[in-house]
Amino acid sequence: MFLPTVVAFLVVVARMLYLRRAGRCTSTRSLAGMTAIVTGASAGIGMETAKDLARRGARVILACRNLTKAQAVVDHIISETGNKKVVVRLLDTSDLSSVRRFAKEILQTEDAIHILVNNAGIAGKQVREVTGDGLELTMATNHYGHFLLTNLLLKRLKESAPSRIINVSSVAHFFTWKINLKDLNFEKRSYGTLEAYAQSKLCNILFSLELADKLRGSGVTVNSLHPGTVGSEFFTRDELAVTWFRKLFLFFGNIVLRLFGKDNKLGAQTTIHLAVAEEVEGVTGKYFDECKEATASWLARDSSLAKALWEISEADVQLAPSEIFY
Ligand SMILES: NC(=O)c1ccc[n+]([C@@H]2O[C@H](COP(=O)([O-])OP(=O)(O)OC[C@H]3O[C@@H](n4cnc5c(N)ncnc54)[C@H](OP(=O)(O)O)[C@@H]3O)[C@@H](O)[C@H]2O)c1
Repeated sequence: MFLPTVVAFLVVVARMLYLRRAGRCTSTRSLAGMTAIVTGASAGIGMETAKDLARRGARVILACRNLTKAQAVVDHIISETGNKKVVVRLLDTSDLSSVRRFAKEILQTEDAIHILVNNAGIAGKQVREVTGDGLELTMATNHYGHFLLTNLLLKRLKESAPSRIINVSSVAHFFTWKINLKDLNFEKRSYGTLEAYAQSKLCNILFSLELADKLRGSGVTVNSLHPGTVGSEFFTRDELAVTWFRKLFLFFGNIVLRLFGKDNKLGAQTTIHLAVAEEVEGVTGKYFDECKEATASWLARDSSLAKALWEISEADVQLAPSEIFY
């Protein structure tokens, strides 16, 4: 009886300490008259981000792959915030033709884009999977899709300046200490779920670094972030757990996450901070954690690597000269 009580007490104290030091967006800024796009807003951090931006009065476009699931989120956001300018549009970031269709529709229907939150992400399949474009699925979903999307919307983001691009990365980018630019899609080396995820999240930061450099002086800022450890749907997805051992590992991992991690609302705070806070107006090319500037890994700060990744990504998504607006 004594031991379980002590363990429960320590769990509660550890959780309180973690949540106490968690960053919170303190800005009360209104976004009336502004338009925001949030990818992967049908769940987790993206959903809470979209809700907060809607509460501030923005027109919010939820860019999601599952329309039924996302429409339920739209209905929930409208009923919670009273903001009726919240809509869903189809976007599968792992499919380059879906990204092109989505961008085309947005450019036709939206006169302005002030905030683009590249949030959609997967932790990666246990076994390597290749998309119809010939890209490894984790890289396609987390990096290539957002790289192409951002480029295709760049003209409108520049016209709408001051505007902000926010790339949701992860502290997991530290788990990769070398990047093979000649084999980003794991064709020549063995595939690992964590390696693919870590690499894709490193790419999010390098992409932000290079884009920030390209957009300097344009009024469009680009920053990346780690949201914290969040008890979202992220670690419960079926694709992560193929073997019974993994299922068991994830089951217990999830319990720990729910006990110690942030809820989705707290997990969205750094994204929201970067999207709205007055104090980060003009700040660009930085990496944030807990609503504060943080230091990314030395690889993620390598500007020549960021440049090289940009060139390879541009070729891999077949960005046409007519699609270049930086
Ligand atoms: N949770 C954490 O502890 C944590 C830590 C560090 C970084 N992150 C990052 O935070 C971001 C959000 O994660 P989360 O925790 O909120 O996870 P989540 O609850 O699993 O939500 C992920 C969102 O991305 C969407 N998505 C996945 N693949 C997509 C695709 N191909 N096209 C369009 N949308 C797609 C999902 O759509 P469906 O609902 O249709 O599946 C869902 O809306 C990710 O980029 C992740 O890498 C999370």
